[in-house]
Amino acid sequence: MIKSAFLYLSKSEGFKSFLTRFQSFNNVTRRFVAGENLQDAVEAIRQLNRKNISASFDHLGESITSEAETRNEVNEYVRVLDSIEENKLNSNVSVKLTQLGLDVGQDVCYANTRKIVEAALRYNNFVRIDMEDSTKTDGTLEVFRRLRSEFDNVGIVVQAYLYRTEKDVEDLLKIGAKIRLCKGAYKEPASVAFSEKRDVDANFIKLTRLLLTSGMYHAIATHDERMITAARDFAGEKSISQDSFEFQMLYGIRRDLQEALEQQGYRMRVYVPYGRYWYPYFMRRLAERPANVWFVLRNVLRG
Ligand code: FDA
Repeated sequence: MIKSAFLYLSKSEGFKSFLTRFQSFNNVTRRFVAGENLQDAVEAIRQLNRKNISASFDHLGESITSEAETRNEVNEYVRVLDSIEENKLNSNVSVKLTQLGLDVGQDVCYANTRKIVEAALRYNNFVRIDMEDSTKTDGTLEVFRRLRSEFDNVGIVVQAYLYRTEKDVEDLLKIGAKIRLCKGAYKEPASVAFSEKRDVDANFIKLTRLLLTSGMYHAIATHDERMITAARDFAGEKSISQDSFEFQMLYGIRRDLQEALEQQGYRMRVYVPYGRYWYPYFMRRLAERPANVWFVLRNVLRG
């Protein structure tokens, strides 16, 4: 119920302007967002790298419908890739296709994303395509497939809450896709997604097993200790080495667990969002955990 309300509000312009009127809100968003500028994200990633944790830059933005604006996003990502190289950071980049023109047209989106993948290739770096709500799944997979047929340095995300994902994973493994598995963060109808957490979790474990036994390098993205234990136990049983996959978490969430896993010899990558368009990302993080709402209210009331 609370989750649905926050996912609904993530699309509300009115609530956004209400929230941004509070002075303290900047401190609150900083819990989940590295800052507004590229340099803020560079600093955050430098600190993670010092702990031997790698990262993925995310320039916050989605649902862009102007072609000119999508080109600005391409330029920003090229700047990010230059900056990774200049600062010798251990990081790749994550992009959302509605930020790169998926709602403008499939070809525009493909051409934009291709420029970023090409720029990454020059630095021997990697581009991960995030997965958005289920109305975008087919379009996102189509653009990914076109890019995958030309490039190795591009990967995709799948969501365990969708019924279709098992079949998608089987198809994606056939084209050698590098996959990030997550539970899924959007409000979805029961016609396409499991609504019970236990079903999502069961599917997550099933898909983790599929990925870990594929012989390819994938990412298990979750803060859920039960999912992490299931992946570790399964990898142990099947003698799958610790460096043949990675765990991923979001900036500011379960930092204790991020560091603990790194210290136990697992590869750990943190997704680091930055930019001015923080609102929908931030609201999805609140939706995931009611305790975060109290954290926000405490800070807002403190002024
Ligand atoms: P779950 O929500 O069951 O939470 C398990 C535990 O983790 C909680 O009890 C709590 O301790 C902790 N936790 C989880 N969320 C928290 C929060 N917001 N604040 C504080 N604690 C929290 N989704 C998507 O649809 N498309 C995508 O491309 C991506 N990409 C992505 C990349 C990476 C690196 C991660 C880690 C996640 C994503 N996601 C995503 C988001 C994902 O789908 C999911 O919404 C969140 O990871 C929360 O689910 P958990 O697996 O953590 O489990």
